Amino acid sequence: MPYAPTLAWKGLEGPEEAHLVATATQRMAKYSEFLRIPSVSALPEHAADCRAAAEWLAVELRRIGAERVEVSETGGHPIVVAEKIVDPSLPTVVVYGHYDVQPGDPLDLWKTSPFEPIVRDGRMLGRGSADDKGQIVIHLSALEALVGTRGTLPVNVKYLFEGEEESSSINLEAWMAANPERCSGDAVIISDSGFFDGNRPALTVGLRGITYIQVDVRASDVDLHSGSYGGSVVNPANALAAMIASLHDANGRITVPGFYDDVVELTPADRAAFAALPFDEANYLAGIGASATAGESGFSTVERRGGRPTLDVNGIWGGFTGDGSKTIIPAHAHAKISCRLVTAQDPEKISRQLEAALRAAAPAGLHVEVQNLGNGDAFLTPLGDPYLTAAAGALEATFGVPPLYIREGGSIPIAALFQKRLGLPVVLLGFTPPDDNAHAPNESMDLGNFEGGIRAVIRALDAIATIG
Ligand code: BES
Ligand code: ZN
Repeated sequence: MPYAPTLAWKGLEGPEEAHLVATATQRMAKYSEFLRIPSVSALPEHAADCRAAAEWLAVELRRIGAERVEVSETGGHPIVVAEKIVDPSLPTVVVYGHYDVQPGDPLDLWKTSPFEPIVRDGRMLGRGSADDKGQIVIHLSALEALVGTRGTLPVNVKYLFEGEEESSSINLEAWMAANPERCSGDAVIISDSGFFDGNRPALTVGLRGITYIQVDVRASDVDLHSGSYGGSVVNPANALAAMIASLHDANGRITVPGFYDDVVELTPADRAAFAALPFDEANYLAGIGASATAGESGFSTVERRGGRPTLDVNGIWGGFTGDGSKTIIPAHAHAKISCRLVTAQDPEKISRQLEAALRAAAPAGLHVEVQNLGNGDAFLTPLGDPYLTAAAGALEATFGVPPLYIREGGSIPIAALFQKRLGLPVVLLGFTPPDDNAHAPNESMDLGNFEGGIRAVIRALDAIATIG
């Protein structure tokens, strides 16, 4: 049974509650201001907007009492760092979020305009409202309430807000290596994930990795008359379709040689955990207007989504796509393909294997180019970590039920970076409900989750302060 949606959350016991209530209107105004900046990291024409969002964050962080606030260069979109170190003997928590967003299109499917946020039916609507600006505002609001009432924090906090998460965080690793002190601490909280079902809180304990490529195929210098040339030369669009079709077998398994070699198979305990989730397939399908599930045989839908690797075409184009008909053999065709990966698949290795499989499937006469557009490692964290337990307690105290522990199909490349490169425990404490339409038209954030999220962050920081 899905958990009955409720906007209920429990206010704080201390003076922070009154502070949060008194500043609610101002908070919504700031949230809207942030959402109005179209910081789309993938589109070069929005580079100045990305910088504006970073500057906006820096101004906010300074206003609410953060220190050492800096808009730090990466070679791409800047990273905003700040901190509040109250006592070196206390734990230091690194808080991560991303201020970049996905493009707003397709605009015609939005009920409102993506960068003109509006509150409707208890939700904030707008691109980035959930993924991930709303979750950054949750942390800023928690900081503001704590500093505004206690004048201090229960723990030390370092903030790291990047601007390239939606473009595979391409400059992040090098930046972290060059700025180790700005991302060092005892644990990391990433707020860029969400709940599992309805308003029931969840802690994400697994994320998939990713590799993303673009393949461009070409067979002639110009489009050809399909009557004069059809049947005599290779058609790049036909060929690309066949190459892509060859990457799966009839059971939905990926046929790229070596693809499954490093996959850590799901254990009986993993499978039991997936089976225990309150997943309602009919609801899931109805929510997206789909009529059937699909994928690798032998696994349930939640397993395929959270615990198995995939290969998907994200976009495919070539030839004549206008109205009416035009009889040509296109000169070239293109596809963007990504694989979601699980531990311990190496994204770079998979990218090379995928390229090799595509080349092997290409017919004579077809020129194939493949470029890698990004990689990110999968993430899995053990249950029972004290920081995870602290976050679980904070969620239960706020939302009235214990959180579910879930594995998500999405990717947050920095999670594995923090875990593997810096050896830090990583807690994915996110607040967006599953129907938030992240990356899609009409993205929104449930304001109950938003307000509850602020209380949960404060409770989590208080709980972390007691970890010895
Ligand atoms: N917030 C998402 C990641 C996410 C998605 C977490 C679903 C939990 C559930 C993040 O902003 C995102 O979309 N990441 C990209 C990363 C990619 C571009 C490397 C993704 O997963 O597509
Ligand atoms: Zn995100």
